[in-house]
Amino acid sequence: MEKLNLLYKAKAKEFYATKDPNILVVHYTDDATAFNGIKKATLVDKAVVNNKFTTMIYNILKSEGISMAYIDTINETEQLYKKVDYIPLEIICRNVIAGSCSTRLGIEEGTKPTNAIYELCYKNDELKDPMINEHHAVAIGLATYEEIDIILNLTKKINEILAPKFTKAGLTLVDFKIEFGRTADGEIILADEISPDTARVWDSETKKKLDKDRFRRDLGNVIDGYREIASRLSEVINHE
Ligand code: TMP
Ligand code: ASP
Repeated sequence: MEKLNLLYKAKAKEFYATKDPNILVVHYTDDATAFNGIKKATLVDKAVVNNKFTTMIYNILKSEGISMAYIDTINETEQLYKKVDYIPLEIICRNVIAGSCSTRLGIEEGTKPTNAIYELCYKNDELKDPMINEHHAVAIGLATYEEIDIILNLTKKINEILAPKFTKAGLTLVDFKIEFGRTADGEIILADEISPDTARVWDSETKKKLDKDRFRRDLGNVIDGYREIASRLSEVINHE
């Protein structure tokens, strides 16, 4: 499908119009940012690696019946998405304590909580994506209680599909962030990527960090880490 004008530039993706008003081209870029855009870099091959990685994740989730904006992958750096009305919420699922949760609760990174933790954040760069609860979200008109219920159930389901596959690959899906959108007929669907940019993934034995924390914490070899996750996970998927 032909790419027309640029509609919106996100931190690591660009959204283009197509002739079909209901379909967008999503173009992955090599840009990396952290700490709400304060730290910036260009990471060679990130677009190609993330395009491939998200294609694999979307296909796993699609085969398990998860509805999504993703339609297809059309070349090395681009995918087609259904146009949705984005819900400005970031949902974080945590299987292991790390990052801001470790800092906020004073719990050592790597501690396994007794249950998965789900957090809602208001997607607003100026406010630095503050953590909110469902009552805030409803009160400021981001979503209804029913929609938040659906969003949390979908996030739980996605975690239950993906986490065991990472485990099989000798990896730990420590945490991830996802976003949802509403279709024209009001269905809530997965509307953004799950990739090493938006998830923490460790080697299960050595606890080596293989995700964007390599960039955030200046650990080096960022894209090598992403590639390692992709190749170990695809090996598992191809043998299922
Ligand atoms: P956090 O520990 O910094 O709150 O991050 C939790 C997870 O969410 C981690 O996998 C990184 C991801 N994340 C994003 O994808 N975008 C963001 O803006 C933030 C803050 C976190
Ligand atoms: N993606 C966010 C940013 O660009 C935060 C992060 O992933 O650390 O600032």
